[in-house]
Amino acid sequence: MSTVVIIGAQWGDEGKGKIVDFLTEKCDYVVRFQGGCNAGHTVVVGEEKYILHLIPSGILHKNKKCIIGNGVVLDPSGLLKEIETLTQKGIEIDNNLYIAKHCHLIMPYHIAIEEQSEKKKKIGTTKKGIGPCYTDKIARNGVRMIDLLYPDVLKNKIRANLEIINFLLKNLYNAETLDEANILTQYLNYAEKLKKYIADADILINKAIDSGKKVLFEGAQGTLLDIDHGTYPYVTSSNTIAGGACTGAGVSPRKIDNIIGIVKAYTTRVGEGPFPTEIKDSLGEEIRKRGGEYGATTGRPRRCGWLDLVGLRHSVRVNGFTGLAITKLDILDGIEKLKVCVGYKYGNSILEDFPKEIQILEDCMPVYEELQGWKESTAGIKNYEKLPDNAKKYLKFIEDSLKVKIQIISTGQKRDEIIIKESPL
Ligand code: GDP
Ligand code: IMO
Ligand code: MG
Repeated sequence: MSTVVIIGAQWGDEGKGKIVDFLTEKCDYVVRFQGGCNAGHTVVVGEEKYILHLIPSGILHKNKKCIIGNGVVLDPSGLLKEIETLTQKGIEIDNNLYIAKHCHLIMPYHIAIEEQSEKKKKIGTTKKGIGPCYTDKIARNGVRMIDLLYPDVLKNKIRANLEIINFLLKNLYNAETLDEANILTQYLNYAEKLKKYIADADILINKAIDSGKKVLFEGAQGTLLDIDHGTYPYVTSSNTIAGGACTGAGVSPRKIDNIIGIVKAYTTRVGEGPFPTEIKDSLGEEIRKRGGEYGATTGRPRRCGWLDLVGLRHSVRVNGFTGLAITKLDILDGIEKLKVCVGYKYGNSILEDFPKEIQILEDCMPVYEELQGWKESTAGIKNYEKLPDNAKKYLKFIEDSLKVKIQIISTGQKRDEIIIKESPL
């Protein structure tokens, strides 16, 4: 097996970064294919904690090629800060990072317009300019990485876009407008610093696969935040599902061998939007504390809830997972009874499939099955046999319900706090 796609199976923050970091050991390339610095992937190596936003989590290993694919929306200022932070921690970036020529750039006007639109209609975004940048991409007005090397092209694009955005800022939002010359100078400055990373990423990735190299595709966000298959409009603006790896990297579906769904042993969500299994009492607060469930990008408290098999069945279907990684099992240690949502009650009927209408999802009540918890600590366990029986039963229940094998179980933040039942690579 030479290619593996890593996908968040819920609403993001499932622990993708940790799993990608672990699997990178066996890989040659790690590719990000969608999203931007809305992502926050935390990786703990030894005593050091790293939070990756744009750079693939594989960068923490020596001599692994890390690629930011065309499907990503890249904020140059965010990237430069990330490069600086990692460099200060002794991570080598220069010979290992490549950025697709046709990756779209987040511009200051994307952030400015999102700031205003969030006041009118709150999605609870990360305010990183993600939605407005993808809007420009689809409207064919976007500024791409390669445009940084052509000042006239860059200038004309900025001018044309500002004509519209400044009109909106001034007349619709009564907000300050932005200056073309300032933005141009700022981005030409970024060009100087970033040009060494620009590459024909699609060619690089395909050559690597064709020559038998192992390539890992690192998803950001999660399936229920997918622009098409998530809880629209409370979603992010990209295709977070496995298919996004093909469009966002320029790779044929025929070249994807394995797709691993990362499933947190419970559920979390940041931002607005329906969340049927949300726990609103003190247990939710307790799980948030134990799990350190605060946004890695914005610091916002994450909403916590029980595992939701209805959402996960949908996730299995649209991604075609070949295996699962269950993370944060240790956070459930000591909880006497564990609830798992097996269906949604809507009016007088029980829904087994995740509804597409947001107004229906908002009115669904979870139907729970209760499983016995375990008293013992699972923290740091590396051997499946050492897990408490009830933890094994919990995992088996997930596996049987979703009909996908669990290949990896994570039992702590650190790189080696993991059980590998079957390696996907
Ligand atoms: P990502 O966005 O999917 O990469 O996930 P985040 O990094 O935003 O959030 C996951 C958090 O859980 C991070 O702080 C990880 O260090 C942590 N984490 C990952 N796996 C485990 C685990 O098995 N147990 C515990 N206790 N923490 C974990
Ligand atoms: P990782 O990769 C969790 C959520 C935001 C908001 C919605 C839209 O760390 O799992 P956006 O800024 O993308 O337009 O916000 O999506 N969101 C995330 N939630 N983890 C993430 O990334 C997220 N990235 C965006 O909170 O609800
Ligand atoms: Mg995260």
